[in-house]
Amino acid sequence: MPSFQAPPGTFDVLPPASARYERLIGIFDRLAGAAGYGLVVSPMYEDVAVFRRVGESTDIVRKEMYEFTDRGGRHLALRPEGTASVVRAFVQHAPPTPFKAFYVAPHFRQERQQAGRYRQHHQLGAEALGSDDPDLDVEVVALAWRVFETVGLSRVRLRLTSLGDAACRPGYRDELLAHLEARRSELCDEHAGRLEENPMRVLDCKREECRAVSAGAPRMIDRLCAACRGHFARVEQGLGALGVPHDVDPTLVRGLDYYTRTTFEFEAGALEASQNGAGGGGRYDGLVEALGGPPTPGIGFGLGVERILLAADAEGVFPMPDTLLDAFVIDTTGGEAARDITEELRRAGLRADRAFDARSFRAQMKVALRSGATLAVVCEHQGLTIRTLREKGEAEDVDRDEVVERVKKRLG
Ligand code: HAM
Repeated sequence: MPSFQAPPGTFDVLPPASARYERLIGIFDRLAGAAGYGLVVSPMYEDVAVFRRVGESTDIVRKEMYEFTDRGGRHLALRPEGTASVVRAFVQHAPPTPFKAFYVAPHFRQERQQAGRYRQHHQLGAEALGSDDPDLDVEVVALAWRVFETVGLSRVRLRLTSLGDAACRPGYRDELLAHLEARRSELCDEHAGRLEENPMRVLDCKREECRAVSAGAPRMIDRLCAACRGHFARVEQGLGALGVPHDVDPTLVRGLDYYTRTTFEFEAGALEASQNGAGGGGRYDGLVEALGGPPTPGIGFGLGVERILLAADAEGVFPMPDTLLDAFVIDTTGGEAARDITEELRRAGLRADRAFDARSFRAQMKVALRSGATLAVVCEHQGLTIRTLREKGEAEDVDRDEVVERVKKRLG
């Protein structure tokens, strides 16, 4: 075994398997771009206080952040989630609103390692700031849904609820707290001791004790104020109109504290329940202010790249592309022809590669077959031929000056 390995909970993605990452990112890039979202690139680490704003009672902040102090004495943390970073950048630069951004980025959480739960994972994220129009909620949820649809996943369930706002949530929180306090002794140790911090965390606890108490607890969805109820009704209606199937699930609680109003999660039916969250998001109408900006509503989502690919494997969809190259050039005449022909093919917009080190025909053919290329261009002293690599077919003699044209024609 080599002396060094990728750290626990992390992994390498090498070609050709990485081609699926590329394809998935390409799909997201296209869909987000088509909906008017622009790429945001932000630092992989921030002042730790930025991420603390996502909720002191969350697991992410309490136990999972990679925190460090740099040589200048700054207390920093690797990005455990993307929303706080985008909102920090929004407050810092004050771009015109609505500000619609997307990102594809690594995220870091010191989680207990298990299948589908990593210490570095990657998210496809989108955030839209500056409007509380329910149609924007519809747009954001539909954008995420189209990603799953385009990947070809058919067993993804969209769970949706409303968590209320500053008008109706505090009253609900008090009512929930009273309900839970009365049964505090029945709760799991972790939640019995920290109930006041955020009683809604109990509703998200997977332990039997807490689930039994949660079952009879009051539900936010039944306590929404008129404005939140109207907002939610419009979101539901909009999703219906755009053909985005969803289940209203009042038991949905997300792992982050900033959510208000529309909140959602995508559950991959093909994955084990412990890591079937393929993505999630919601409104966070108070987060911009919490990070020092003017009152500004916002909504967004993050989709887990690895979870999507695991779900795709389990459903048998989104296979690795089987051609990574259009043509592979084999040259037994010294390599100059390969050098020039690959360049010509690439300039013509084709994906082309070649063998190096002036090896034997057999050795070069082996590399060509492994490359997954559709065609081989073979340069020998007696002339040039084009051959099919992936299936049986006639070898075709070609003149030097018509190679590109003939390769294009053969590829159709
Ligand atoms: P989150 O639910 O914490 O939300 O993460 C989003 C997605 O990232 C999850 O649904 C899951 O697919 C994936 N994920 C999270 N942790 C791991 C892990 N340890 N290993 C593998 N995949 C993981 C957020 O992070 C919010 N920032 C989403 C958001 C954006 N809300 C509003 N805007």
